[in-house]
Amino acid sequence: MTNDDVVIIGSGIAALQLAGKLNTHLNVRILTKGKMRVTNSYLAQGGIAAAIGANDDPSKHVVDTLEAGRFHNNRAAVEQVITAAPSLIRNLAEQGDFFDRNQKGELFLGMEGAHSEKRIVHGGGDATGKNVMEHLINNLKVNVNVEENVTAYKLILNTEKNRCIGVKAKGLDGKIRKFYGSHIIIASGGCGQLYSYTSNAKTVCGDGIAMAYLAGAEIVDMEFIQFHPTLLYINGETKGLISEAVRGEGAILVTADGTPIMEGVHPMKDLGPRHVVSQRIYEFLKNGKQVFLNISNIKEFSNRFPSITAICEQNGICLAEGKIPVAPGSHFVMGGIKTDLIGRSSIDGLFAIGETSCMGLHGANRLASNSLLEGLYQGHQLSEWINQQGKGQLEAEKDASIQPINQEKVMLPDIEQMKDLMMERVGIIRNEANLKKQMAWLGQFKADLLNLDTCFPSDISKIFMLITASLITESALQRTESRGGHYRSDYPYEDDHHWLRKSIIHKYKQELENNHEFIETALAT
Ligand code: SIN
Repeated sequence: MTNDDVVIIGSGIAALQLAGKLNTHLNVRILTKGKMRVTNSYLAQGGIAAAIGANDDPSKHVVDTLEAGRFHNNRAAVEQVITAAPSLIRNLAEQGDFFDRNQKGELFLGMEGAHSEKRIVHGGGDATGKNVMEHLINNLKVNVNVEENVTAYKLILNTEKNRCIGVKAKGLDGKIRKFYGSHIIIASGGCGQLYSYTSNAKTVCGDGIAMAYLAGAEIVDMEFIQFHPTLLYINGETKGLISEAVRGEGAILVTADGTPIMEGVHPMKDLGPRHVVSQRIYEFLKNGKQVFLNISNIKEFSNRFPSITAICEQNGICLAEGKIPVAPGSHFVMGGIKTDLIGRSSIDGLFAIGETSCMGLHGANRLASNSLLEGLYQGHQLSEWINQQGKGQLEAEKDASIQPINQEKVMLPDIEQMKDLMMERVGIIRNEANLKKQMAWLGQFKADLLNLDTCFPSDISKIFMLITASLITESALQRTESRGGHYRSDYPYEDDHHWLRKSIIHKYKQELENNHEFIETALAT
């Protein structure tokens, strides 16, 4: 058993930004399921968006964010984050030399889909996440204790006060450990691994969302899943991301005979919103036609995109031929643990930041390069709030002892089958019949009722995947319209009359069969 001021579950950009900015008299413990560098943040090729160009202004970035989010966004969150972006970037840029610069020594600004201005700051060409994360890791002080290979699985609650006071976790040896803290922060990322095609790190399975759900926290907007249009696609498998910055530099999507596929589909063509581009590519693939990124007009491709060049070469793609085969795959979940702008969830003492949280910045679809930005912003905001609170209220259970338990194998489905079914039935194109089939398929495992204390850590991840998949599927069934990252072929249009600014919120009540609540978001327009 340990007692800390702050316990952070996850080690991505939001987690490390928070940990590095907390006062050094606070004891901070970071628990991470794998190795600390195995995160989506570390993999991020795209950059960080901020309106710092001569012709740019945060108000333009706000409009682009709302447009991409199909006006499902929390406008207050959008305005606060986007307005803070230029100073967050300048502040980081002053701390080290990890962003790319032009010949005048100014920050180099790239273009990405659905942005109306060049405003994307990159590091190492296409290694922004790695550069920023290494800086944040090096910035951690002695008050921060990082524990790797620790799977957090159950929030410890003081039920009388509806307060979260700690978390149970298991190490590789399977022994249960209890970590108590005054502030428990979930920053464990999204759920890309629920789908067979994904850009996400292997560990990103929806753990934080499922754990918060089982504890009774409100979970919102889970139907909105972003499929990135261009993952490298070889022999029916995706092999990593081909950044949107490649299209920003002039690559276009073509068929095998070189015909451009985005002409007449959206005014921004290849740089249209991700859901529009992903749906278009998906239609071609479904009809048995391969889609490629034609990169032949990008000069010095390998200098500009060294990581992508390496991924392509490792997979036998000859870049001199100027064509990269691509397919869309799950990339980001816009929904998550519902929080306010500080990161407070609906349970006292429990906070969520980064992709696992939802404060409404992204709405129904996230604008490119707004996610590292969100992590930086939320980590900073929450650090200021906790620093003001001081050490807070540390409560351990009266009896914190742990009885030895035997771990048992539970009957779970083949998780690869689940990923294929999610892709087919709850993926880029959805309909009522498929969503109902998937609800029934997921429901048979009764994943929410399993005793996690007796499960092996690898089974806990699978159980969390099944629970998170059910949240997505059920929300997608409820939302009878198409908007952003949620497309229903049986309801193909936005239905503002019934759905604009309405959210589906799940709140777990074990005794109820129907455990979702449907409420209107109370946001100012
Ligand atoms: C990309 O580089 O295309 C991904 C960036 C992002 O998702 O924001």
